[in-house]
Amino acid sequence: MSSSDFDYYKAFSRNIGWLTLAEQQLLASKRVAIAGMGGVGGAHLLTLARLGVGRFHLADFDSFDIENFNRQAGARLSSVGQKKLDTLVAMALDINPDLEITTFADGVTESNIDAFLQDVDVYIDGLDFFALKIRSLMFRKAYDAGIPAVTAAPLGMGVANLNFLPGKMTFEQYFLLDGCDENEQYLRFFVGLSPARLHSAYLVVPESINLPERKGPSTIMACELCAGVAATQALKLMLNRGKVIAAPRSLQFDAYRNSYKVSWRPFGNANPINRLALHLGRKYFLNQPVQIAPKTAPEQDPLRYVLDKARWAPSGDNTQCWRFRPTSALSCDILGNDTRHDVVYDLNGFASNMAHGALLETARIAASERGYQLEISDIDRSDAEHPVYKIALLQDSSIKADALAPYIETRTVQRRPMGTTALNSGEKRQLEMALPPGFAVHWFESSAERWTIAKLLYGNAYTRLIMKEGYDVHSKIIDWGKQFSIDKIPEQALGVDAATAKLMKWALASWERFEFMAKYMGGTIAPRLQLDLLPALRCSAHFVLYSTAAEAPVTLEQQVAAGSALQRFWLTATKLKLGFQPEQTPVIFSGYLRDNLQFTTNQQAFDNAVAMDKKLAALLPPQVFANKVFFGRVGRSEQPASRSLRFSLQQLLVE
Ligand SMILES: Cc1cc2nc3c(=O)[nH]c(=O)nc-3n(C[C@H](O)[C@H](O)[C@H](O)COP(=O)(O)O)c2cc1C
Repeated sequence: MSSSDFDYYKAFSRNIGWLTLAEQQLLASKRVAIAGMGGVGGAHLLTLARLGVGRFHLADFDSFDIENFNRQAGARLSSVGQKKLDTLVAMALDINPDLEITTFADGVTESNIDAFLQDVDVYIDGLDFFALKIRSLMFRKAYDAGIPAVTAAPLGMGVANLNFLPGKMTFEQYFLLDGCDENEQYLRFFVGLSPARLHSAYLVVPESINLPERKGPSTIMACELCAGVAATQALKLMLNRGKVIAAPRSLQFDAYRNSYKVSWRPFGNANPINRLALHLGRKYFLNQPVQIAPKTAPEQDPLRYVLDKARWAPSGDNTQCWRFRPTSALSCDILGNDTRHDVVYDLNGFASNMAHGALLETARIAASERGYQLEISDIDRSDAEHPVYKIALLQDSSIKADALAPYIETRTVQRRPMGTTALNSGEKRQLEMALPPGFAVHWFESSAERWTIAKLLYGNAYTRLIMKEGYDVHSKIIDWGKQFSIDKIPEQALGVDAATAKLMKWALASWERFEFMAKYMGGTIAPRLQLDLLPALRCSAHFVLYSTAAEAPVTLEQQVAAGSALQRFWLTATKLKLGFQPEQTPVIFSGYLRDNLQFTTNQQAFDNAVAMDKKLAALLPPQVFANKVFFGRVGRSEQPASRSLRFSLQQLLVE
């Protein structure tokens, strides 16, 4: 259609109903000023253009780049390098060629701000989060000119809306930015924008907020919600319809949290609640050392790609019992180690060897994505505690990417109670088929079976918690107060409530304290209930993975193969959106008892392990009991908010 055929009333006729025709006509005469044509500004313009607003003042000095693709309305292959302003003006005119647009190609400056706000009905903020100086001036000038000003901030997967209306609280009265240093101003703006802080619960890469580099994450969903909310406020203001919430009241809608909240903060950032949030924010954001920018792209080099993925394999207590020594462009020595001397749960390196198997399987899966076979050409076993796996990548045009590859980095432990809906036959079949030849699974599914296993695990945990050998491990592996941990298990991934975590932290500070608690204060009960009994009831099924070979898997190769099977099983559970939790200590204690090894000096702990092992033996067919390699549970669960992370590839590479 050519612009001469354009008919305003036809184009916007479907607005009529929610707007009267008279109101639509009024909108055609209204002028909105939008500063910034990025994530929210561009969306505001296109939304208001489709609403039929007839006049705009638009400002932006920036050009499109590829980093804008995730959220900015005008960012496309064809617009990279182009001025955002030119692109957006063209897009808006393509919706309504009758638009009257005045552009400010240098952005808003002190010298053009008065012209920018001249004869404007509503100002909508589309400025970069960090452009606080010009933003403050803009809100002051708008206030003085009697122009209502709307901000809709894209936070997480939601929107925080704050409006400053003539005669009400001003931007400066609310945010109190004057006289503060730059970082303090950012913090004040951030806290004031979203008193409800709905979005903060699901920030999964905290280091993506980088104040020194003036960078933060942002989603398209948030930008589009912002456009909807801001345009609605603008409509109400321009048509004098309905109440518009104004500072010190603000609203936040978070689509991710399914939550909507109106906040009221008299005195803005001087309000005691905001002051507390500012105090906490200063501790969290401003005192952090320079943060490492999160990784945004996979490794390009095939060997580095494979190793970078492989490092996400699971290992007992997140020990990451491996280092990588490249030997050529496509080959590498995986330097394994085990923790048998420090960790009672690593019987003769069994847990570490399984972790090595999981690592090699992960490397194999990642290699398939790049069209390579993974060959393990040799295993140097001259030092039993430090096996060296010699791997090479062989190009193979027939190889297809393994369907489990996308789940390598999201596979994680879920130690908390899960949903109990039974596995359906398709899910069970997929899990069973995930196991390579030589391995099989035994299930415990009914509620009676889950109750039996829960009691067994509760009883078994007593051994774990009263022996000094267990204490020596537990006191070192937890990163207290943390949501994420590079080389340990973060407190929040333990699966206990905050009070129990506090008690555990206190008790684990010394063996004497811990022993006293365990002996006289019933100190094992709260952790056993929360870590063992309750989550063992709240799952879909428990399982035992076992070898179908004639003899128990005791050699390095057999244990590596078991680790490989475990990883395929775990990744498949992740693919099926199931939570997964190892329950490995009964298997480990059973191994010690099979080999007649006295793994603890605490006779009570040992006798308890013997009793529990008899119970486990009675629950399993003889071959499953003899050849068991892994015990765990699966259940309905979303991704846990807290998890163990990994050393970087750089940290794992050795000369
Ligand atoms: C062989 C093996 C045994 C494990 N045993 C347990 C266990 O008994 N209890 C537990 O909570 N996690 C266990 N884990 C899980 C690790 O603690 C976990 O994989 C590690 O901390 C990394 O966390 P992520 O899997 O969430 O990335 C085991 C992992 C492996 C490989």
